[in-house]
Amino acid sequence: MLLVTGGAGFIGSTIVEAALAAGHSVRVLDSLRSDVHGAKPEPDPRVDFVEGDVRDHAVVDAALDSIDAVCHQAAKVGLGVDFQDAPDYVSSNDVGTAVVLAAMDRARIDRLVIASSMVVYGEGAYRGPSGIVRPAARRIDDLDAGVFDPRDAAGDLLTPELISEDAPLDPRNVYATTKLAQEHLATAWSRSTGGRAIALRYHNVYGPGMPQNTPYAGVASLFRSAIERGEAPRVFEDGAQRRDFVHVRDVASANLAALDATKAQEPRTFRAYNVGSGDVHTIGEMAAALSRHSGGLPPVTTGEYRAGDVRHITASSARLRRELGWAPAVSFDEGMREFASASLRP
Ligand SMILES: NC(=O)c1ccc[n+]([C@@H]2O[C@H](COP(=O)([O-])OP(=O)(O)OC[C@H]3O[C@@H](n4cnc5c(N)ncnc54)[C@H](O)[C@@H]3O)[C@@H](O)[C@H]2O)c1
Repeated sequence: MLLVTGGAGFIGSTIVEAALAAGHSVRVLDSLRSDVHGAKPEPDPRVDFVEGDVRDHAVVDAALDSIDAVCHQAAKVGLGVDFQDAPDYVSSNDVGTAVVLAAMDRARIDRLVIASSMVVYGEGAYRGPSGIVRPAARRIDDLDAGVFDPRDAAGDLLTPELISEDAPLDPRNVYATTKLAQEHLATAWSRSTGGRAIALRYHNVYGPGMPQNTPYAGVASLFRSAIERGEAPRVFEDGAQRRDFVHVRDVASANLAALDATKAQEPRTFRAYNVGSGDVHTIGEMAAALSRHSGGLPPVTTGEYRAGDVRHITASSARLRRELGWAPAVSFDEGMREFASASLRP
């Protein structure tokens, strides 16, 4: 039996659907965080649902009974409201992961797939006159002047590249720090217990069931909400920020491929994979596609910026395709068309 922590969430519930369709029996452990779930979701008779917190040792021990592999999705997500959220991020994400891993060790469960994120990289990879560089945070003077692309130390503007898993890791906020710590905990667990772990670094996940009106809502659902209110989506900077939008069903199939791969993986190993569509689009293009497919007002580009935002971050998912035989099934156009009218989580 497969345990999906956070299996009531946006991505977790899509993994549960895919796992059931593939013939797995599934247990879900989810605390149904009140800031994530307005009303409690209807119980699904096909799933053994445990309402409980991954930080609760006794609950996790019980939830691991008869489990072969764990797909750990439970986390406090998004950028949070301010630094006062830091203890909750660290507790939910890192203490929670440590409790799950310690319980897996006690239960002798050695297969783990853990949800990580592109945020572990910080800024994307860029090419400058001297080769591949990782730029420092953008200068406020540049942003005020509408110069949004980062520069290298010599002041030359840089061209974005796809980032691969071996790039240096540079988490730039509390959430990102906790996602990277989850990866490090999984690595330590695999080394010390003989476990086999895969971390999936999701890029910008979108699709049906995405949260809509929470502080953690992603940009795709913020645009959808604006269109539904009869407003034009407001695109920051010049709209040319490059992202890799990956459909939630493709993220679910990546999780199943990874769970399968842990069976053949060497004990005491940890491997990270980017999960992206490989099809780069800009935030402006995404907003335009949503407006077009929903018949809403076209987006407006505002030139506003948030100093902490990453300019471009796009993945190479070649490792995932090559080693796990995964390929995305939902194209950008198909996915955005569906997303324009899909039901979202209130
Ligand atoms: N959505 C994205 O674009 C994205 C990108 C990169 C990584 N991720 C990662 O994917 C995973 C799933 O994210 P999501 O977008 O589905 O978020 P979500 O908030 O929809 O789902 C998370 C689920 O975990 C549950 N949960 C949170 N803390 C818990 C705890 N302590 N104990 C038990 N359950 C708990 C919540 O109730 C929720 O149902 C997370 O680990 C997140 O960091 C998401």
